Amino acid sequence: MSAHGVPAPLTARRAGPLRGAAEVPGDKSISHRALILGAMAVGETRITGLLEGQDVLDTGRAMRALGADVVRHGAGRWSVHGVGVGGFREPAGVIDCGNSGTGARLLMGAVATHGFATTFAGDASLSTRPMGRVTDPLALFGARAVGRSGGRLPLTLVGAADPVPVRYATPVPSAQVKSAILLAALNAPGESVVIEREATRDHSERMLQGFGAEVSARTTAEGRVITLRGRPELTAQRIAVPRDPSSAAFPVCAALIVEGSDVLVPNIGLNPTRAGLFETLREMGADLTYESPREEGGEPVADLRAKFSPDMRGIRVPPDRAASMIDEYPILSVVAAFAEGETDMPGVAELRVKESDRIDAMAEALRAAGVAVAEGPDWWRVTGQGPGGVAGGATAAARLDHRIAMSVLILGMAARRPMTVDDAAPISTSFPIFEPLMTGLGALFERPLP
Ligand code: S3P
Repeated sequence: MSAHGVPAPLTARRAGPLRGAAEVPGDKSISHRALILGAMAVGETRITGLLEGQDVLDTGRAMRALGADVVRHGAGRWSVHGVGVGGFREPAGVIDCGNSGTGARLLMGAVATHGFATTFAGDASLSTRPMGRVTDPLALFGARAVGRSGGRLPLTLVGAADPVPVRYATPVPSAQVKSAILLAALNAPGESVVIEREATRDHSERMLQGFGAEVSARTTAEGRVITLRGRPELTAQRIAVPRDPSSAAFPVCAALIVEGSDVLVPNIGLNPTRAGLFETLREMGADLTYESPREEGGEPVADLRAKFSPDMRGIRVPPDRAASMIDEYPILSVVAAFAEGETDMPGVAELRVKESDRIDAMAEALRAAGVAVAEGPDWWRVTGQGPGGVAGGATAAARLDHRIAMSVLILGMAARRPMTVDDAAPISTSFPIFEPLMTGLGALFERPLP
């Protein structure tokens, strides 16, 4: 929905070629963490390149409600005057996390070891998503949660006044769950341990270390074992947020399927726990190169160059790569539709509990555009139509999911007939400049007549 609660449909028609540089916004995961850890540190953290999408703005508001001083100084330039570990105060009202699962789950962790109650709410999408995966481990610290059936929002979490450290093996591959536990462990005495069978994005661990926490990770037969010593003094930092590889995925994939395209996407964070899509695209035969690879702020970074790739072939995406590209399956399914042969995507049950059921949402959109999709509880398969082979000519539902909305529009940019998404407003949660950025490269978007 738009800010006025009215759906904002948008149509993309066949475009091309796409040319130029795509300066995508800051990383969403890192932006949330910068605000939260800044609020838990002593002194003033200065952030540049912060993503000013709705999800992150909601987390900023929550930090203010918990007592931190959060100030915007200019585009992407923010400061957070933190209250120190254990220093949050009881919020006066409900914490509204909007559409953001990351915001909700990380904040639950951050307050779980403070002796007061916090009530969390969210939009219609967030209110359907499972929270038991976070409140179960937080209960081990001594926190109590009361929510709707299935542990869904709205939910009140009564934090532990006298928390104990925990040792917990996560049953689902989720960086949000892992991070919630680490944030709760900050204000528990002694050492807490989180074990993940499959490695998920490690931004929390990296940033905690940067703020001065004692955190270590080692790989054992059980998986990745992360240990954090509680009650550290976190010291304020300067944080330059790298650009988001999950946002870069959209102009990159558009360039691969729109005839004649050649697009540069500069300064993209290529942390190996996030870069699975680009590896997959290269295996499919994409003309995608990493230019000037370098390190910035402890993260690998490169300029991505993507060119129209008419010879891509479907592959089986290894399931052990899923965590490193979990947000990129919707846009991968679009590229798969323009490749030759089948693209198999096994081991992705988590896609069913994102902002929408992303397998169902993309299967519906692709089928409406004339593409065959098969699916099971934790897998799906797209039958490629080859370049120029996708009919298009349909309207698809965004289901309050930014990545579905953007994927449908990219589909429309290369299909024979236009594709319309029923509501493009959710795009602002993660990529507020998507529309001008894509049209600047040569995309043809228009608002359908009412
Ligand atoms: C995120 C983790 C992932 C991802 C989300 C951001 C994070 O969710 O889908 O967009 O910042 O930790 P899960 O932890 O549910 O896999």
